[in-house]
Amino acid sequence: MKIKFHGHAFVEVDTGKHKILLDPFITGNPNCDVTLEDVKCDFIIPTHGHGDNFGDTVELAKRNDATVIGIYEIATYCSAQGLKAHPMNIGGGFNFPFGRVKLTMAQHSSSFPDGSYAGDAYGVILTIDGKNFYQAGDTGLFYDMKLIGEMYKIDAAFLPIGDDFTMGVDDAVKAVEFVKPAVVVPIHYDTFDIIKSDANDFKRKVESIGKKCVIMKPGDVLEI
Ligand code: NI
Repeated sequence: MKIKFHGHAFVEVDTGKHKILLDPFITGNPNCDVTLEDVKCDFIIPTHGHGDNFGDTVELAKRNDATVIGIYEIATYCSAQGLKAHPMNIGGGFNFPFGRVKLTMAQHSSSFPDGSYAGDAYGVILTIDGKNFYQAGDTGLFYDMKLIGEMYKIDAAFLPIGDDFTMGVDDAVKAVEFVKPAVVVPIHYDTFDIIKSDANDFKRKVESIGKKCVIMKPGDVLEI
C-alpha cells in the first residue's frame, strides 16, 4: 500500500483499487497540501471526534459518496447526517473490500467540535495485502502497545510526537520499543505552536535503539 502524508495526522492510503483517508483535516490545517476538491476517497476513518482529526470527514464523505468507518458513536453521528457509515468498536476488526481494519485502544479524550459525545478515541491497524499499518491516533503512551508489537508484525507505525495533547518525543520512542515497527513516522506535531516538537531529535533517538524513522513532509509517500 502507498501511504501519503498530508500534514498533522492526515494520511491517504492507496491500495491501487481503493483510497482510504485517515483523519482528513484539511480546513484549518496550515500544513495540508491538498484541498477538498483535490481529494478522492472510498473510505474515511477518523480516529476520534476532535476537529483536527474528524476534520472534513462529513464534507469529504458527501463529495465522494465514501463510507465512514469509525467507533459506534462516530458512525451513528455520520449516519444521522445521511452518510454511509460502518460502526466498530475497540478490539474489533472487520474485513472491508480493501482489507482489514482493527480498532485499537488509545489514551485520549473524544468529542465532536460542538462538544457532543463521540465515544472513545482509538488507533487503527490496517492490514492490506499482507502488510500492517498502525496509525496510533492521538494517544498518550500506554503499556498495551506491547501487545500490538507482540501480535502484529507492524510494517509502518505513525505515532504522534507533539506532546501536550499526546505523547512527546521520549514517550513516543518508548512506544517504538513496544510496537517494534519496521519504520516509524512522526505525526501530530508542529501544526500549531502548542505542539511544536523536534522530529530530528525523535529520529536520532529511534535510530539509537536500532529502529528506522522517516520524517515525512506533506505530499510525501511511503510504500510498504
Ligand atoms: Ni485529539
